Order: sequence, then structure tokens, then C-alpha cells
Amino acid sequence: MKMLLTGGAGYIGSHTAVALLEAGHDVAVVDNYANSSAEAIKRVEKITGKNVSLYEADCCDNTRMLEILKTEMPDCIIHFAGLKAVGESVEIPIEYYRNNIDSTLTLLECMRELGLKSIVFSSSATVYGDDNVPPFTEGMPRGVCTNPYGWTKWMQEQMLTDAASASASGKREWKTPLSVVLLRYFNPVGAHESGLIGEDPQGIPNNLMPYISQVAVGRRDHLTVFGNDYDTPDGTCRRDYIHVMDLAEGHVKAAEYAASHEGSEVFNLGTGDPFSVLEMVEAFGKACGHPVAYEIGPRRAGDVQDSWANADKAKEVLGWEAKRGIDEICRDAWNWQSKNPKGYSK
Ligand code: NAD
Ligand code: UD1
Repeated sequence: MKMLLTGGAGYIGSHTAVALLEAGHDVAVVDNYANSSAEAIKRVEKITGKNVSLYEADCCDNTRMLEILKTEMPDCIIHFAGLKAVGESVEIPIEYYRNNIDSTLTLLECMRELGLKSIVFSSSATVYGDDNVPPFTEGMPRGVCTNPYGWTKWMQEQMLTDAASASASGKREWKTPLSVVLLRYFNPVGAHESGLIGEDPQGIPNNLMPYISQVAVGRRDHLTVFGNDYDTPDGTCRRDYIHVMDLAEGHVKAAEYAASHEGSEVFNLGTGDPFSVLEMVEAFGKACGHPVAYEIGPRRAGDVQDSWANADKAKEVLGWEAKRGIDEICRDAWNWQSKNPKGYSK
């Protein structure tokens, strides 16, 4: 099948491109490089020995997207494109709402005009909010988000679900009922085992694993652990860290599912196993061969204590489950970081 990945040059998109190509699909990528570079796609081609059709374009540009989609006519769109830094979204909410909401509306308009059927969307466990108690199941009511980034995911989920319902009625200008798959990622981490592609955050990393990796490689002094007074066994927050290649393989299954179904479905993509911040620090120390320096700091505003998935639905319906554990996660993150201490910029 032909898959079109918006934001495909980014962290999760590039790993998914590898998994799709290896599963025998054709891949086209649209990216404006707001948070990535074309180098990632060159490396995807190197890993797989296959070509990717690459378009530099903004997914909010209706005319250009229509042109690209008309050329490619994909069996499924996987919509990764978006801005994703939680702290930044609090500082520049309008840019976040404009980019994330507009790109999704633009895609839906183009799909309606061209009669394209399937779309898989990158959502986040953040939509469960902080009132639900883990493990989170897809049937739980979505919660109150703590930042504009989270709200964009919440709203994009709603827009896609509403469009799927409207298209199923066969009324108005819909040529075909839509198939929408919402994927709620837990905490994607790690890198492709080749060490050729991985996460390349700009500036000071906000997320735990890239921060730990940069301390381990000597780019930063020490990690600050955000609070050790939570009601957990070691006092630090627990998360469901999922290897990015497991996540990528989940997209292959989800896109194949979307192309042969109608309506909307939600799937958690997580492992179901929580690990604390200190457990991750220790595991990474083992992988890189030396302890990772850390200090205990205050809690970070907006953090939830616990977040992990019930991943049964993806297993039952998609036949997918995460296979890689934290040892592989830390090994592959370290392999990427140590081979590319400054990311793609050399
Ligand atoms: P990323 O920043 O590495 O990738 C996003 C890509 O989208 C980048 O290549 C960027 O240049 C591109 N992009 C942004 N706006 C665009 C636009 N208007 N037009 C074209 N391209 C555009 O992020 P990622 O970690 O790969 O995340 C992919 C998706 O998954 C995002 O939607 C993100 O919100 C979501 N997500 C990520 C995580 C995570 O922890 N990484 C967790 C949950 C959800
Ligand atoms: C964060 C976002 C979430 C987003 C996800 C992926 C918040 C509140 N949530 O999730 O919306 O989908 O990133 O982009 O920002 N930690 C430290 N020190 C650090 C960094 C992190 O102790 O320097 C801790 C955090 O307190 C947390 C855990 O590590 O307990 C994981 O943090 P992080 O990687 O930022 O992910 P989330 O907070 O789960």
C-alpha cells in the first residue's frame, strides 16, 4: 500500500517510515522541517535500501497539500506533523493551535475533496488528563488537559471523530466513509538499532530520555529529577516507556487496519509496564557503562504521578504488542546518542 506520512522526517515518523518500508509499503513524506531535517530521510533510505518520495511543504497549505495528495493518492495518511513541546505551547499557544489544528483541518478538507479514505493520527496519553487512574483504557472519558499542546491533541481527536461520523452518513460532499485511527502514544523513547536515526531535540531537552542521554554523553552536567516525594515506591513518577520501533510497528498494523475499515477507533500504544524516573536512570547507567549523574529537584508543574497503558485492545484488534524492554530501549538510545552526540547536525 502507499502511505503518506506528514511530519515523516521527525522522530517517530522516520522510524515508522523504516517499519513501513520493511513491511513492503511505499512511503511518501511531507515535512516543513520545523523540527527536523531531510538528513533523517536519507538515513531511512540507507537503512532500508528503498526510496522515499519527499516533499518539503507545510501541511496547513491547502493548495500545496491538495497537489501533493492528488499526485500520491495514498491508501492511508499517517498524520505526525505537529508542534509538540509542552512548555513552549504554554508560551505560544496561538502558534500551537494554528499549526496543529489547521494541519488536521487541511488534511480533512483535502481528503474529502479527493475521496481519500484513511487517516491514522498521532495522539497522546496526555488526553487521559490527571483524574483517571492507570492503567488507562481507551473507553475511559478523556480528562482535562494541563497545557495547550494537550488540548490540541484532544481537539484533533474530536475533529477527526466528528468527520468520520459525518462521512459515514453519506450526505454532503463526502465521496467515501472515512476510516480514522487515533493512536494514543505513551512515552516513546529509544532509537533504531542501527544508530542511524533517533531523537534529535533542539536546545535543552524537555523529556527524560534525551536529557539522560545527553548527560551520559557529556553534553550536560547532570539530570534534575523532578520530585521524589510522590506516592510511588521510590518517590519518583512512573511512566510507560515504549521503544520507538515497537511504536513504529504499531503504526504499520494501524495503517493496514485503517485501510480496510470504516469509522473511528482509538488504540493505546504502550507496553503496560510502568518504570520510575530512578529506574530509568539506573537502566541507562548500565547500558552506557557508567552512572548517570542526577540531583533531586522540585516537582515540575503539570506532571502526573502515574501514567501507563492497558494495551490489550491493540493486541486483540491489531495483533500488535510491544516486544522490546527497557534494556533494549537504553541500549539503542545510547547507541544513537554515542554515535551522533550532536544529533543530525554531526
Ligand atoms: P517531531 O517534532 O520529531 O516530528 C514532527 C514533525 O512534524 C517534524 O519533522 C516537523 O518538522 C513536522 N511539522 C510540524 N509542523 C508541520 C507542518 N505544519 N507541516 C509539515 N510538517 C510539520 O515529533 P515526534 O516526536 O516525531 O512526534 C510526532 C507526532 O507524535 C506529533 O504530532 C507529536 O505531538 C505526537 N506525539 C509525540 C510524543 C513524543 O513523546 N514524541 C508523544 C505523544 C504524541
Ligand atoms: C511529556 C508531556 C506529555 C507529552 C510527552 C511526550 C508534560 C507534563 N507532559 O510527558 O504531554 O506527550 O512529554 O512529549 O510535560 N523528568 C525528570 N527530569 C527531566 C525530565 C523529565 O525528572 O529533566 C521526569 C518527569 O517529571 C516525568 C518523567 O521524567 O516524571 C517523564 O517525563 P517526560 O519525558 O517529559 O514525559 P511526560 O512528562 O510523561
